[in-house]
Amino acid sequence: MKGLVLSGGKGTRLYPLTYTRAKQLIPVANKPILIRVIEAIRDAGITEIGIVTGDTAPEIQEAVGDGSRWGAQVTYIPQEAPLGLAHAVKISRDFIGDDRFVMFLGDNVIQGGISPLIADFAHHPEWNSQIVLTTVEHPEQYGVAELTPDGRIARLIEKPKQPPSNLALVGIYMFDHHIFQATEEIKPSFRGELEITDAIQWLIDHGYSVFPHIHKGWWIDTGRPDDMLTANSLVLDELRPEILGTVDASSLVDSRVTVERGAEIINSVVRGPAIIGENTRIVNSYVGPFTSVYHDVVIENSEIERSIVLEHSIIRDLPTRLHDSLIGRHAVVGVSGVRPKAIKIHLGDYSRLELI
Ligand code: TTP
Repeated sequence: MKGLVLSGGKGTRLYPLTYTRAKQLIPVANKPILIRVIEAIRDAGITEIGIVTGDTAPEIQEAVGDGSRWGAQVTYIPQEAPLGLAHAVKISRDFIGDDRFVMFLGDNVIQGGISPLIADFAHHPEWNSQIVLTTVEHPEQYGVAELTPDGRIARLIEKPKQPPSNLALVGIYMFDHHIFQATEEIKPSFRGELEITDAIQWLIDHGYSVFPHIHKGWWIDTGRPDDMLTANSLVLDELRPEILGTVDASSLVDSRVTVERGAEIINSVVRGPAIIGENTRIVNSYVGPFTSVYHDVVIENSEIERSIVLEHSIIRDLPTRLHDSLIGRHAVVGVSGVRPKAIKIHLGDYSRLELI
């Protein structure tokens, strides 16, 4: 089997962060989502991985290289524009050949990896496709599957007004080579994309067998900032804590905190689950649960909770606690002390500042 990771797209819902960085490279618990995806595929025993890339190809190639750091051999498949998930499959024909493969959206995070579902598909060579589904509370907001009485997938419906089930599509799909014919036959949708749901429906309508795999743990599609924070919380909750940096005697660090190499905690309180990145300094501050602070950050005389702070940023002398925040790279958040008392901001396009 081979792996196909979709890492193109525009990431518009994560502007402004995705103006300057690929969405798939945003870290969750201090590890880029794309690396988590590659590790999940490798852990399932698949080492030949194709990565579909768009405008952010150089950045992705720089981060992943040839994949050998993660025990994988990576092939890059450039997509001229984000023309849809089925389009990404279509252009991967040469890489996949006649192999069966798993397709994984490069911005999805799933609990427990994908070994069970890869094994399930491998045990049923007669199945043409298997789609990962999970139970959701509001199926009307997702792509939803209707099952036949004998347990196959009968129909896929995008955001149904009257959902036939509460089983939503997770961003993980298994296919054999028949999917390529489907991607040739279907037409672009009203939004101009070749939709993967249309390609799967084509398989079903032409007599190919498409089975579900019901995923029991959590799964997050990190399309929006809130999803990113949720994914961060869930992954942090499962992280095995490790103290590799230094914690001074006047600091209090919870048992569920990871302090990475070269990080310093000085006169501060860090409550887990949380992770403090390499060479980051936390001084006279409070870092609360569900916070990931990436490398080379300074947090001084401030409080922060349930947030993600990216590399080389500075948070200093904040009068109120930051929470539910996503702070990009090289950002400065603080108090200048200069009179008159006022808010001074340099916000990039599509930024959000919420003061209470
Ligand atoms: P989406 O989240 O559906 O699209 P997007 O990344 O462009 O985000 P937004 O809607 O906020 O603009 O994409 C899911 C994943 O698939 C993501 O990792 C990007 C990738 N993708 C491709 O590689 N090629 C494509 O043509 C599309 C649509 C997505």
